Amino acid sequence: MSGVLLDVKNLERHFDGLKAVDGISFTVAPGEVVSIIGPNGSGKTTTLNLVAGTIRAHGGTISLGDTRIDRADSARIAEYGIARTFQNGRVFATLSVADNIEVGLHSTLHATRPFRGLSHLFLLRWIPLLGELFIAIVGTPASRRERIEIDANVDAQLHRFEARLGSRRDDPAYSLSYANRRRAEIARAMALKPTLLVLDEPTAGMNQSETAEVLEQLLELKAEGQAILLVEHKLDLVMKLSDRVIVMDGGRIIAEGRPEDVRHDPAVIEAYIGRRRALATGDRS
Ligand SMILES: Nc1ncnc2c1ncn2[C@@H]1O[C@H](COP(=O)(O)OP(=O)(O)OP(=O)(O)O)[C@@H](O)[C@H]1O
Ligand SMILES: [Mg+2]
Repeated sequence: MSGVLLDVKNLERHFDGLKAVDGISFTVAPGEVVSIIGPNGSGKTTTLNLVAGTIRAHGGTISLGDTRIDRADSARIAEYGIARTFQNGRVFATLSVADNIEVGLHSTLHATRPFRGLSHLFLLRWIPLLGELFIAIVGTPASRRERIEIDANVDAQLHRFEARLGSRRDDPAYSLSYANRRRAEIARAMALKPTLLVLDEPTAGMNQSETAEVLEQLLELKAEGQAILLVEHKLDLVMKLSDRVIVMDGGRIIAEGRPEDVRHDPAVIEAYIGRRRALATGDRS
């Protein structure tokens, strides 16, 4: 494979005439951490949604390694190796923490879903369903082995957040703090052992110490060689974590480079940092 993991070219997506993503191109290399920053409404989440297959592009291409993924649905893209978390956080409130992590693995099961390849053929969908039901009731040596592998994987992901989630394995997700729900979401994404981890504002709503803790955990993932595409408003975290920063405004990329260079780019200060500072001080001129 070349030195590019994710290759986005001329990507476009509009909503009723509004160009949310307006012809952007960027790459993520294996093991690289790339952050997208920009003001509210600049197209960051839309970009992540396009990469993860949550929504379809109206133009351009997205490739993961040698595979074109811009026409694939989100389940297939997860199988290809992209796992994501959501800006607003999404856990299943009444499922346990362990089940919330395991649920992300459904698309990867082989022994438990023997005819999974047929599930996208509408007329034959009953075959994989019956197969799953049979194996759930009777079980096979292979499905029992898969069960053991799943449990080990869930435990390994819980271990990443040992101090926070270690003792909460069987607790329902609704009993978790907001920060812990977001950790469970990252654990769910990591259970897929993704080649690219996509995170949309993983520390949104967290206080300073919680944010610092998540930064440490993301730095550990980075040290393990995990490629990450991150959207985040907290510039401190972005600067400490990223190899490269992309700045969006109005659906376009207005700057791109190493964190320290981007931070001092006049266009960035104007479009993002300056605007926020102006907003923070109440100066809207
Ligand atoms: N499903 C949708 N339908 C209509 N408009 C949308 C939809 N999703 C996004 N938009 C619009 O597209 C633009 C980009 O939105 P997007 O959510 O990508 O911004 P963002 O950079 O993630 O902002 P924020 O920092 O507030 O999360 C916004 O003007 C938004 O209102
Ligand atoms: Mg967003």
